[in-house]
Amino acid sequence: MFHLNRETDADWWEVEALYDLCFAPGREALSSYRLRDGTLPIAALSQVARDRDGILAGAIRYWPVCVGERPALLLGPIAVHPTRQGEGLGGYLIRESLALAPGLGWNRVLLVGDAPYYQRFGFRPLSGVEMPPPTNPKRILGMSLAPGAWDGVQGKVTRAPSQAEP
Ligand SMILES: CC(C)(COP(=O)(O)OP(=O)(O)OC[C@H]1O[C@@H](n2cnc3c(N)ncnc32)[C@H](O)[C@@H]1OP(=O)(O)O)[C@@H](O)C(=O)NCCC(=O)NCCS
Repeated sequence: MFHLNRETDADWWEVEALYDLCFAPGREALSSYRLRDGTLPIAALSQVARDRDGILAGAIRYWPVCVGERPALLLGPIAVHPTRQGEGLGGYLIRESLALAPGLGWNRVLLVGDAPYYQRFGFRPLSGVEMPPPTNPKRILGMSLAPGAWDGVQGKVTRAPSQAEP
């Protein structure tokens, strides 16, 4: 069993080490990281999962971005330790954290990732939404957290001001 808690400052480097383990070297060169530079993750949504012994098993962070002029959540990075993958923890992290988002005023979320994984949560390809290059447009996925939240929302994805509110 895993316990989810809000990520704290004390978790930061342990989460970074987990991401280093789970992603290819040079992950910070990915274009999505340009949207995170100089901006803190959204503390109320970023979660760590620990087992009963307190060992870190997974983590998810969110950043505030703008799509055109409209606010949106950027989901990720998310990672589950290789010894804990395939047990549903990734899904648990995504569902539990996203469930908090509407209560905080967020109504749309996007990510760059594999549709075969994220479609089970309701993510669908977004059209007319441009991540910083180079990004494969087919990997730009979004989900509405309120009906019609993506209707008419298009344009470049840009960094939001630090601690932006929706
Ligand atoms: C992606 C990740 C977070 C999923 O975590 P997890 O705890 O293993 O996921 P779950 O247990 O909820 O789901 C497992 C299922 O997702 C599938 N899956 C995992 N990654 C997938 C992917 N990239 N594409 C398609 N399916 C994927 C598994 O095959 C498994 O399928 P099954 O349910 O039919 O057996 C984890 O594999 C991970 O940390 N990967 C490395 C980092 C990464 O790629 N992060 C995502 C960046 S977009």
